[in-house]
Amino acid sequence: MKSNALFLGTLLAASAVPALAGDVSYKSDVQPILHDYCLNCHEPGGKGFEASGLDMSTYASLMKGTKYGAVIKPGDSFSSVLIQLVEGRAHPAIKMPFELKGGLPARKIDTLKSWVAQGAKDN
Ligand code: HEC
Repeated sequence: MKSNALFLGTLLAASAVPALAGDVSYKSDVQPILHDYCLNCHEPGGKGFEASGLDMSTYASLMKGTKYGAVIKPGDSFSSVLIQLVEGRAHPAIKMPFELKGGLPARKIDTLKSWVAQGAKDN
């Protein structure tokens, strides 16, 4: 009985995040998502950058955050504003990517969350 429950728990845990068992890489996993979904607004000249000061074109500028401060708290995806926004947890009206119907695909949100949870490293 006990071992069955353990087995089921392992299966569930494994199926929830299949691709994220290992380390998430900023360069090969995170940067492509930011490039495809965020950069057109969040680099100098874009409307997200103009409104918030958040430039995601480099690791350093991403970690610097908005004109008000950091949007990523390494090791703590729950409190990271960037994660709150892509999950629509901050305010439904300012879900990111801005005005994208359906929002960021769940798998990509999971990648960003895992990367932050693993320390938001420049790896
Ligand atoms: C179509 C343009 C657009 C896209 C694409 C976009 N943003 Fe934004 N973003 C904005 C605008 C405009 C603001 C300012 C919103 C405000 O302050 O009301 C903003 C603000 C932000 C902020 C700062 C919010 C704050 O607390 O001040 C974060 C973090 C953010 N965006 C993350 C993202 C992420 C992550 C992506 C990609 C997944 C993304 N954005 C894609 C337009 C965009």
